[in-house]
Amino acid sequence: MQSLYTNGFENIYDEMYKTFINYNDEFKFYSKIIKQYKKENVLEIGCGSGNLAKLFINSPISYIGLDLSNDMVQLSQNKNPTGNFTQGNIEGFKLEKRVDSILITGRTSSYLLTNSTVNNALNSIHKNLNSQGILCFDFIDASRFFSIIKNGKHIQHKAKVQSELYFRDSYMTPNKQLDNFMFDWDSHYYKKNHSKNITITRDTSTVRAFTKDEWKLFLELNNFELLEFIDRKSYAFDTYVVIAKKK
Ligand SMILES: C[S@@+](CC[C@H](N)C(=O)[O-])C[C@H]1O[C@@H](n2cnc3c(N)ncnc32)[C@H](O)[C@@H]1O
Repeated sequence: MQSLYTNGFENIYDEMYKTFINYNDEFKFYSKIIKQYKKENVLEIGCGSGNLAKLFINSPISYIGLDLSNDMVQLSQNKNPTGNFTQGNIEGFKLEKRVDSILITGRTSSYLLTNSTVNNALNSIHKNLNSQGILCFDFIDASRFFSIIKNGKHIQHKAKVQSELYFRDSYMTPNKQLDNFMFDWDSHYYKKNHSKNITITRDTSTVRAFTKDEWKLFLELNNFELLEFIDRKSYAFDTYVVIAKKK
């Protein structure tokens, strides 16, 4: 589990990600897909701190948010008291009622580290979708991303939160010792006070990028029909969005 998703750090995540990701654009993009396929309700897996949730809750599309981190679920619920949030794992969750569509955004797919995790996740998603239900998720495109980070890549993000200046220095490098297209992502979160850097936390994780062909196969093996890959630039990463239908 990423340290930034629990133990109070979820509040920093929340403030910083609001400045990295334009959630209004995210909402426009994903709600258009849900409407296009005439779906009335959505489950978001890895709902994080509830920023996309807020926009869905105020829309005609009915929304449920699910996250592995209890702290994220609590934060989402506090920010959206009328929202429906639940703690659960993408592998093996069970909703009371099936849904028409499932979303996984913000490159949460990067935490599906092994092939068995991907298959378990797709299996639970399949079971919780109505017939003809839609799955829509994004992933970091290994083909483009690895050529950029091949020799290590430093990326800095800045966020101004209530007149405090926060930074995240990320260093990404391929991890060639592991199976799959994995990379090590070291992040140093700090704020500046009178030009002194004050460390908030360090987060070291190993995460995964995928190729389109891998997803074609995973979807086929787990009884989904691939409908579309959408090439979508997003902050820091080359990303594809996948739309698939439950067979
Ligand atoms: C990068 S954040 C994205 C959050 C949100 N979608 C956004 O765009 O702000 C990834 C989220 O996925 C959650 N997560 C990680 N592994 C998970 C799992 N196995 N099941 C459910 N949620 C998971 C984390 O707790 C975190 O909130």
